[in-house]
Amino acid sequence: MDNSDGRRLSVSLVDVTGGHDAEFLAVATHLEALLIRKEYGRGEVIRDEAHPLRFYWVRYWTDATSAERCHADPEVQALTANLYRMARVTHVVNGVHRSGAMRLMLDDRRARIEADRRTGFDRRVVDAGRTGGDLRVRHRRIGPRRVQDAAGEIDLIGAARRARENADARFSHFKVGAALEAGDGAVITGCNIENATYGLTICAERVAMFKAISDGHRVFTRIAIVADTAAPTPPCGACRQILWEFGGNLEIQLANLHEETGTYMLKDLLPLPFDARLL
Ligand code: THU
Repeated sequence: MDNSDGRRLSVSLVDVTGGHDAEFLAVATHLEALLIRKEYGRGEVIRDEAHPLRFYWVRYWTDATSAERCHADPEVQALTANLYRMARVTHVVNGVHRSGAMRLMLDDRRARIEADRRTGFDRRVVDAGRTGGDLRVRHRRIGPRRVQDAAGEIDLIGAARRARENADARFSHFKVGAALEAGDGAVITGCNIENATYGLTICAERVAMFKAISDGHRVFTRIAIVADTAAPTPPCGACRQILWEFGGNLEIQLANLHEETGTYMLKDLLPLPFDARLL
């Protein structure tokens, strides 16, 4: 990231009215093209996977004057007026230097996560259940409170379907998407990535879990897995092991592009698991 003093960044939180997301993305594409054509800078729209109608609209300005010229541009104003008709727009970062902006966004995320000072395997063991029996009753989870507690509020399957579109399955042509829900309601997605050795291929589920761990998440509640098949695509053996060790007794939602194909608890897919408690 370029932190030179002239370069600035703005971020807006866009909550789109239901049914208008395609329209919003079309307007955003127009705005992005305009920013580039008139050399104001560059724009990017990031979907919040935990809230399907929420987007972060990021503008990387060429410099402070470009931002001002852009705001005064009638063509831009016409497009943004259109945007305000279909969404609630909250400016969260207004043209600050880029390094400062990133810090603000991180602080905001941290504030949403409940503190849990237990670390590593202890934390997973308590949250996840025992090898021989489950501590959790379905739909009544022990562990940190989730930000969204109402069932179905987060469209995990929708997030997995979107993640599947990024799969690199050039050898098998079998694309898979996964979306993992963390204890604070964050959604971390993954897709399968294949390579020429075949054997180094990594499944969507492990990509999601490793991304999540690497981002600092340690508590998980559910994972959705999507493939374009009539029959359910359950996680492979390697993924079951990794999901168990890092996520405990997750709820596993299987779906294809049109419907849900089954819900399981991980302990039922991996009976008598091996994990660190046996070392
Ligand atoms: N695959 C997954 O990503 N997840 C599963 O649950 C099953 C299999 C991938 C691995 C490989 O890229 C392709 O699907 C065919 O096995």
